[in-house]
Amino acid sequence: MDGNGRWARRRGMPRFFGHKRGVDALVRTVQACADRGIKYLTVFAFSSENWKRPSDEVSGLMGLVLVAVSKYLSKLAGEGVRIRIVGDRGAVSDKVRAAWQHAEAATAHNTRITLSVAFNYGGRWDIVQACQQAIRSGVAADALDEATLARFMAMSYAPDPDLFIRTGGEVRISNFLLWQVAYAELVFSDVLWPDFGEADLDAAIAAFSGRDRRFGGVKTDAAVPPSPELAAARGP
Ligand code: IPE
Ligand code: MG
Repeated sequence: MDGNGRWARRRGMPRFFGHKRGVDALVRTVQACADRGIKYLTVFAFSSENWKRPSDEVSGLMGLVLVAVSKYLSKLAGEGVRIRIVGDRGAVSDKVRAAWQHAEAATAHNTRITLSVAFNYGGRWDIVQACQQAIRSGVAADALDEATLARFMAMSYAPDPDLFIRTGGEVRISNFLLWQVAYAELVFSDVLWPDFGEADLDAAIAAFSGRDRRFGGVKTDAAVPPSPELAAARGP
């Protein structure tokens, strides 16, 4: 969910205003995904690296978690949204941790869509913590394969993502779900996150639908049209 700061600065407003509007865009997007039958939506809300931001912005974002949970939790819960937090909970304040726990507990029975909020999350952190857990639970080095490690990843409850969308014009993954995006289709949008709407979601889904997913396999011959030269040589 990138572009909040720029969205606000372009309007002569402080960056925090963009983050606030970003929460509204998130709630809209959760609803749009649920309406389209999408079962899992995972958003990158705060990265392990975002602590490097100015302290007033960091504390603003932490405060926004509390505001967002109190403003939107009952609405999302009522719409069948299950909320799960992925990330290192150790470093966040007791208040933020409690808000997340409350959001998870209040929606634990919901099944329409799972909204995973990556918070104090990093793809590298996830791989390292999965290795640590595997070692702690006594998995032998020779027994550690992809499926075993995947069981210890923070999002082991969800399938790998099919579609990865980054807004805000930057064309990189920035330490999001590194392990899980191995075969995800990547869509990069110039839209700044607070402006992201249903039409942008549908455009990303349309781009996804046009992709040929092979997971390392081969295209079937029927899907590969002959070159014009070969077609001409073969005749009508
Ligand atoms: C993303 O928007 C939101 C968070 C990281 C919380 P940015 O804050 O990165 O916005 P830009 O990239 O500066 O516009
Ligand atoms: Mg940014």
